[in-house]
Order: sequence, then structure tokens, then C-alpha cells
Amino acid sequence: MSAATEATTDDTAPLDAVTGDAAAADAAAAAAVAVAATGSPRRHAVFHRLRVAAVEPLTDDAVAVTFDVPPDLRPEFRFRAGQHLTVRAPAIEGDVRRNYSICAPATGDRLRIGVKRVPGGAFSTYVTEQLAPGDELEVMTPTGTFCPDLDPGSARRYVAVAAGSGITPVLSILATALEVEPASTAALVLVNRRASTIMFLEELEDLKDTYPDRFQLLHVLHEEASEVELLSGRLDVDRLHRILDALVPPQDVDAWFLCGPLALTESVRGALLERGVEAGRVHRELFFVGDAPAPRRPRPVDPRPTAGAEVTVLLDGRSTTFRLPRDGVPVLEATLAARPDAPFACKNGVCGTCRAHVVEGAVEMDTNYALEPEELERGVVLTCQAHPVTDRLVVDYDR
Ligand code: FES
Repeated sequence: MSAATEATTDDTAPLDAVTGDAAAADAAAAAAVAVAATGSPRRHAVFHRLRVAAVEPLTDDAVAVTFDVPPDLRPEFRFRAGQHLTVRAPAIEGDVRRNYSICAPATGDRLRIGVKRVPGGAFSTYVTEQLAPGDELEVMTPTGTFCPDLDPGSARRYVAVAAGSGITPVLSILATALEVEPASTAALVLVNRRASTIMFLEELEDLKDTYPDRFQLLHVLHEEASEVELLSGRLDVDRLHRILDALVPPQDVDAWFLCGPLALTESVRGALLERGVEAGRVHRELFFVGDAPAPRRPRPVDPRPTAGAEVTVLLDGRSTTFRLPRDGVPVLEATLAARPDAPFACKNGVCGTCRAHVVEGAVEMDTNYALEPEELERGVVLTCQAHPVTDRLVVDYDR
């Protein structure tokens, strides 16, 4: 993910993140508190109240929300294409957070997200049915690494595969890449049920009109017949290989961006690796509709299950130290008991909002759908999934 998550553009159960539960109480017991001032590092992502400038319908069940960002907050809300925002609504009781990808190009100054209503989703129902211009939402400064590294002098080939609301970060990525890199080209395979459910159809048509020779768009509709057999029906592995055959030799693609449900992104990634694409060129962000993904990596059995590690957390220029049993709650949960300002959204290893650097010691993660292998190599971890496996652990949210 980075998005992993998901980012995440749907309002789904795995992205519910409500503090004050039993786990937090457990963490409170585990957390002995020692707080000290450190240097003055970069601040982690924080919430600000932003006024809603516009709520525009995209489909029957999706809207685009544009925020008014006051001049003094503009530097904090500067974003990279593909990043996402964690959002809370003052009108919804409790600390209920959702992650939504930014759909606007990073070259402009518009902060805009896409929100699709999910049956039973309180947050997305509120946004799509009640939110109006002039209302306020609490918006966390942008996070996420599902982003291309752009260079105006490069001539690259980008291909994205997105499904449903997975278009949201991909729209930002492709629009930004085509504008910033005048010699680059991009193709998008976009999967939806029917034409009427396509989010940002107008923006995609505009992109085609703006870059007729550099942007290729293929709509795959799995509940609607198309004149082209290849583009009508489920995007199974066979159809995927046939589309890839028709699109571009995979070895000619510099970066792939996949965004959608776990099953789709896994099968596309698998098909690409099968064709010899380097894993480092395939970036993905997840969103989920339905059950949370099963942990990919079970927590190791600790030989000393009741032993407590000394954990120090560096956050917003202050350090907080507590003891945490190795078989206890994750580092994030224990941190929140003492530092409720620690950043998080999904608590499921999907969105990447809780990322931090391990600067001393080591952790094991239950699952990881957000971090790329090179981030793991650099010591980045998802604190909502992390458990100490050394006697001393130092994690830095500010780095
Ligand atoms: S990955 Fe979403 S809060 Fe940890």
C-alpha cells in the first residue's frame, strides 16, 4: 500500500480507526511515561480544520471534495502526486478516521479528494449525502509514498492499472507526470462495473484531449458489453495478459502503478513479475471493500513472552519512553496511550500513515501492505503492526 493503501479511497471497515478501545487501555497499562524534549526535527503529519470549498458529484455514489487551504497552511498541505489525506468529520462522534487519496495534480494548488459511498459506511455516507460547501473537516497533512519520482528532463513510460475508486491517486500521478515530463507517455487500464460507475470520467477525457499522443486510456467494464471483446468482462489473468500484449512490452515500462482491491493488485503484480518486470518498478496502493486482509506474516513466538522491551518514541521533537511486552499491543497502540498525537488511520497495515524509522533495535511486523522493500531496507516500519524483538527499541516519527 502506501496505500498503500490504501491509500484508500473507500470507506470500509478495515479503515475504521477508533481510539479508546480495550487495546488502548492495555497499552496505557504498559506505558510507563518518560517524556523528554529532543532537537527540533521535522513535524509528523498533523490535523488541521479545513473549510470545504466544493462538493461535486462524480457518479450516483461518489463525490469530489475540494478544500479551501488558507495561505498560512499551504506549505503544510503541499503534496506529491499519489499521496493521501486522513480525514475526520466533527459531525461524526468519536475519533473515526478515513484515508482518501488526493485526485488533483500536484502541479496545481487545488486540494481535492474523491469519496465513494460504501453501503453501511457512516463516514462516506455523511460525505456523499450531507457534506456541503462551508462545512469543515479535520484534515491531516498529506502522507504516503505511492508517488513517482519525476524529472522534467526524462522520457519515461508509465502504466497504471486501477479499479473503481483506485483511479483517485492514479489520476493525480498520471496528470502530474504528463505535465512535468513533456517527453513521457502514460497508459491507464481502468476497471469498473459499468460506464456509469466510472469516477472522474470528465477529468480522464480532458487528459486524453490535452495529451492525445502521450496518454492512452483503456476502460475495462465487467458488467457491460463493449464492442471490443478484450475490454468487456472480468479482468482475469488471461484477459490481463492479452491486454498487456496489446498495450506495451512490459520491459519498456519504467514504472507501474496499481491501485485497487488486494486481489486485483496481487494478480496484476504476479502477471508482471511472471513477464520479467523488476519488482522495484511495480508500485501499488490498496483499498479494501469487505473484510480486512489476513496478516501475511504471523507474529513470531517470543522466547520470553512476558519480557518487556524499553521503547523510546521520538515524535514532534519530544521523546517518550515506556516498557512494552514483546507479545503485547503494537508500538502504535502503546504510543497512543501516552502520545495521542501519534499519526495513524487504518491500523491495519494498509495506509502507511503510522510509518516511522527504527533508529535502534528491531521490530517484527504482523503485516505490511504499505511499505515497499526499499523502505523496509531503510528501516521504515508500520508502527500499527510493529512489535519489539530487541530489549531496546527507538522509533522516530519525525525523520
Ligand atoms: S498502516 Fe494505516 S495506521 Fe498503520
